[in-house]
Amino acid sequence: MTRSTRLTALAAVSAFALLGACATAPTAAAPAPSTATPATAPAAVMAHDIHSFARPDEARVTHVGLDLTTDFAAKRLSGTATLDVDAKPDARMIVLDTKDLEIQSVTDASGKPLQWRLGTAPQGTPEVMGVPLEVTLPAGTKRIVVRYATSPNAAALQWLTPAQTAGKKYPYLFSQGEAILTRTWIPTQDSPGIRQTYDARIVVPSELKAVMSAEMLTPDGEPAEGGHAFRFHMDKPIAPYLIAIAVGDIAFKPLGARTGVYTEPSMLDKSAWELADVEKMVEAAESLYGPYRWGRYDLLVLPPSFPFGGMENPRLTFATPTILAGDRSLVSLVAHELAHSWSGNLVTNATWADFWLNEGFTTYFENRIMEKLYGPERAAMLANLGWQDLQNAVAEAGGPNAPDTRLHLDLTGRDPDEGMTDIAYEKGATFLRTIEEAVGRERFDAWLRSYFDRHAFQPMTAEVFLADLRANLIKGDAALEQKLQLDRWVYEPGIPENAVVRQSDAFARVDAQVQAFAAGGPASKVNTAGWTTQEWQHFLGSLPAKMTPAQLADLDKTFNLSNQGNSEILFAWLKIVVNNRYQPGVPALEKFLTSQGRRKFVLPLFTALMKQGDWGQNLARKIYAEARPGYHPVTSQSVDAVVK
Ligand code: BES
Ligand code: ZN
Repeated sequence: MTRSTRLTALAAVSAFALLGACATAPTAAAPAPSTATPATAPAAVMAHDIHSFARPDEARVTHVGLDLTTDFAAKRLSGTATLDVDAKPDARMIVLDTKDLEIQSVTDASGKPLQWRLGTAPQGTPEVMGVPLEVTLPAGTKRIVVRYATSPNAAALQWLTPAQTAGKKYPYLFSQGEAILTRTWIPTQDSPGIRQTYDARIVVPSELKAVMSAEMLTPDGEPAEGGHAFRFHMDKPIAPYLIAIAVGDIAFKPLGARTGVYTEPSMLDKSAWELADVEKMVEAAESLYGPYRWGRYDLLVLPPSFPFGGMENPRLTFATPTILAGDRSLVSLVAHELAHSWSGNLVTNATWADFWLNEGFTTYFENRIMEKLYGPERAAMLANLGWQDLQNAVAEAGGPNAPDTRLHLDLTGRDPDEGMTDIAYEKGATFLRTIEEAVGRERFDAWLRSYFDRHAFQPMTAEVFLADLRANLIKGDAALEQKLQLDRWVYEPGIPENAVVRQSDAFARVDAQVQAFAAGGPASKVNTAGWTTQEWQHFLGSLPAKMTPAQLADLDKTFNLSNQGNSEILFAWLKIVVNNRYQPGVPALEKFLTSQGRRKFVLPLFTALMKQGDWGQNLARKIYAEARPGYHPVTSQSVDAVVK
């Protein structure tokens, strides 16, 4: 975005900024809202979302009612989406987002057919946006019913064969909505600023169970034609990317009074053991930034093709099984997804240009939860690993002047996915840490807690965030304003010099070991006593880029790295394997890439392989041919662009 368009955007939201800042907005939820019905932000002040065809100022969806049947043989969901519509009196049309949907009919609530058409996307529209569904609205229409079916290739959905599950007996289906994939399975207005409540009735084969990011009304299902049905209800307005479903042979085990875990039966005990601290995490999060407003907090541990570490679907975080390290060492991922219950799900990026408002806040908050539960040293190590990731992300983006190292991004004509790098996570978190250090933790926490209250259930933009910070934390302190350089952090590339970096004493000790090994010492002399997963990650991430085959063999043999069960340590090792063309490590690489589909692991490894001449490219093509059928579209579409 150019300077001048940014100023226009600023002007457009300034009224909202003031309302938010003074906490007088009629729609702002009160500080103790657990029983109050939350309101949504008024459409008039909504930032324009270039990744949606919707025109919410004219007519917007407020509620989605799904009635869908799962057909595993055809890889299709089919049925109806009944949409409650809030239209201006003179509005004659509502525009929905769709991609690869087969639209069969559109009627009003009484069944009377409405005129509709699938429009065309203007030139330069990224493919992922799909096409608008334009429905003519007779005056006074409050509700429309869209009868439709999804495509077997719907990008949000992965249909797993029994062989791709842990139990090997039943098929499995799951969805991934963020950023703009919900439109491939639900015809609605797929923009994070257009919050919607939802309910659903899902018919599945009688051996299977459905779960969703909503209150489960029928834990045991109820009789239905062709199987049995599960019903769900989400009474809080949420961004549509948070509507999520999974269907499979799914069992449940409670973890605490309001927490529990769903997964395939054979994974249940292992998952429950790994996640034993979840209830304590919810308590820690609440003690920091206010009440958890979603009722229950459960997790679903998915089959290994789940393309993310975790996804913060409300009430039901979706998680990769690669966090099951057997020693609870990777649970910061749960702290992260839980933190999204405030930053992201409660206060939501209005558009994908401000993805950092979701992920940067969450990465900061995640670290505070980890500190509270496991102490400052573990938190410092995690923050420091994040800082290393940030350095790598800046380099990958093209260096400190690259436009994509800004927090507020220009995604014009692009897939929002392109902006979803570690910059949003780690530069965002570092920014908040820098503010925290400048004003002191107590003052910062008070502000952050009140920010979540003031903007609960509303979309957020960089401009509104800055206005709120100025009105409620900085309060005209010119010296503080000068010191923080807020606009530089948000709108300029690179990492400002005032960045606060958390140092870790434990990592300083690891650094000494790295130096000794790099200078030619044997692996057996590396003092690894008492090392946690984070210290191993730091050790492997800090070794010289190039090592001799003898050094690599020594490391591998001494520490049994190729047989590592911890996914983060194995990933760090496999990057070394690839960058050094270490042939004995290739079987482990192949196994890792074909046994899980987490994009954060898979994409960097294929990218690194493609940089290793014929050796790496041939290997990448061979492994990818084998692995690709098992990946979710989110992962395969990213890897398709790399392995050619
Ligand atoms: N919301 C993200 C996942 C996501 C990001 C989905 C972008 C679609 C587009 C989730 O909260 C997340 O950040 N997951 C991370 C783990 C986290 C501990 C950093 C992941 O999947 O690696
Ligand atoms: Zn996240």
